[in-house]
Amino acid sequence: MSKTFYVTTPIYYVNSDPHIGSAYTTIVADVVARYKRMMGYDTFFLTGTDEHGQKILRAAKEKGLDPQNFVDDLATKFVKLWKELDISNDLFIRTTDDYHVKTVQSLFQKIYDNKDIYLGKYEGWYCVHDETFWTEKDIGPDKLCPVCHRPLEHVEEENYFFKLSKYTKPLLEYFKAHPDFVEPDFRRNEMIRILEGGLDDISVSRTSFNWGIPLPFDSKHVIYVWFDALINYISAIGYGRDDKMFNKYWPADVHFVGKEINRFHSLIWPAMLMSAGLPLPKKIFAHGWLTVNGEKISKSKGNAVDPRILVNAYGLDAVKYYLLRDISFGNDGDFSEDNLIVRINADLANDLGNLVHRTLSMVNQNFSELPSPKVESAVDEDLKTLLLKTIDDYFKYMEKFKFTESLTQIWDLIKFSNKYVDLTEPWLLAKDPSKHERLGTVLYNLVDVIRNVSIMLSPIMVKTAQNLSNKINQKIDVNLLGWHKTISGVKIEVGDPLFPRIDTTIWKKVIKMVETNEQVSDKKPEITIEDFAKLDLRVAKIKQAERVPKSDKLVKLLLDIAGEERQIVAGIGAVYTPESLIGREIIVIYNLKPAKLMGVDSNGMLLAAKDGGKLRILTVDGFVETGAKIS
Ligand code: MSP
Repeated sequence: MSKTFYVTTPIYYVNSDPHIGSAYTTIVADVVARYKRMMGYDTFFLTGTDEHGQKILRAAKEKGLDPQNFVDDLATKFVKLWKELDISNDLFIRTTDDYHVKTVQSLFQKIYDNKDIYLGKYEGWYCVHDETFWTEKDIGPDKLCPVCHRPLEHVEEENYFFKLSKYTKPLLEYFKAHPDFVEPDFRRNEMIRILEGGLDDISVSRTSFNWGIPLPFDSKHVIYVWFDALINYISAIGYGRDDKMFNKYWPADVHFVGKEINRFHSLIWPAMLMSAGLPLPKKIFAHGWLTVNGEKISKSKGNAVDPRILVNAYGLDAVKYYLLRDISFGNDGDFSEDNLIVRINADLANDLGNLVHRTLSMVNQNFSELPSPKVESAVDEDLKTLLLKTIDDYFKYMEKFKFTESLTQIWDLIKFSNKYVDLTEPWLLAKDPSKHERLGTVLYNLVDVIRNVSIMLSPIMVKTAQNLSNKINQKIDVNLLGWHKTISGVKIEVGDPLFPRIDTTIWKKVIKMVETNEQVSDKKPEITIEDFAKLDLRVAKIKQAERVPKSDKLVKLLLDIAGEERQIVAGIGAVYTPESLIGREIIVIYNLKPAKLMGVDSNGMLLAAKDGGKLRILTVDGFVETGAKIS
């Protein structure tokens, strides 16, 4: 029996405009699907669109369109987008597809027959944007959605309810028995905390509108859009209509989702499956959220750019490399156009581009075809050892979705290979005919590295890998990863540089952030030296740093100020990881009145420079004792 792998993305609200943040889930899932295919798995990769519910209906009405026509048009746009981003999904599911509608109805019936659905009355709050029910205890007096902060609507309806509460205990037991069920671990712990608080039954039908799948036994009701949407993961692979396919791929190996929809996937979906007597997915991986240039992604800020704009400007492989290398998968991260350019120039044009260009040029200048290795030397052993370690680590990290680590290792190998060129000095070897065979060996070893790099990069940078393998005339075959598996005697083609450098002095960036009022009115009235003297500014050292729960921006810092311990809260979490802050010397306003930020005490404030979306903390130039005053 062949090994199978089933990987999914969430199905996107069909009326949403994907930006680099939302496309991130699918870009990562695609890398995993490609990696698993390369590893010989019979892989099924699913994505699609979520097309029912009040939000879509309202959007269609606003445009004066029939909802079915509205979603047909929008779904086509998604299919096109993923094609342009070279996403390799095996199926694109739409929740308005007939087969999905039938599966949802039959699963609903099954859960009803198992006595887990009952008729009741719902009175509470609803976020149409997130299609989420909220009870009084979840929300504040402002009646805003705890996730998207939009105003909630009051709902009073006759609804069917799902006995989610009944699954609190079985789920808790399942979480304990399967510690890898939800990742990263801090997301799993959040779910366990919710479970420990006990789950309430949830409403799973709506009666105030009819854009949805009718209940099989009560056509006044349509099925709640999340209940409908989650079932896509099994309708896509033939549940109830193609047992062979269903049994082949279910349970899914991994559902990739963003952190805000983890609850639906890690609690509600498993409870539905338990009720229907189906096995649970093997893993739910809830990744973090991206900001763009340090700001929350929003149309009004101008940073909700279509991923195609970035791809047209920088190239798909460069954007993917940057996303996977710079953003630690699982955590929140920032998509910074400046950092993307740095990665392109330093890692792609310089490290990889130079290695390839100079190696291949030297082969063609000195040989008519790729020579074979004949004269080894000690430094070759170092290259070999690093190459073999990189391959081992590559598998280890890719299996765990640790893309940053995996790419860092590959780049360490590339950097060392450039150093190997400097150490072996092939330009000098070329001048001495007696060293011709050594020159051939050095160049062969370098081509061997390039070949290995092309294989390891192939699930991530598809075109670049292909381009590399074409230049060196070798196959991309994961079974050929290893030292000296390059075929010699082949023609080498130098071709164009892989990644042209971006000249930042003339380059026009594509993300045009809209200035906020804060930046427009940045001139403040004059002050006297006495005014300034009121500020007590001191040097402090960060001893501990951790994120404030439920906040993307706030970080709680424990400071050492001349032996005194102080806690402050700083809004720098979108740009700095807590770990990167420990040990740094910063400047704080020591005599600032204490305040509470999201319920956490803050006794002072750190200074940071803010330039549009960029934010950098102020530090001292060289070592100064903590507590030192700033004047
Ligand atoms: N329709 C639901 C999912 C139903 S799955 C049974 C939905 N759709 S969505 O269009 O709002 O989101 C699609 C994906 O984009 C989600 O994984 C979501 O977390 C992700 N993101 C949207 N904005 C994001 C960022 N700024 N950063 C990272 N991912 C984000 O939810």
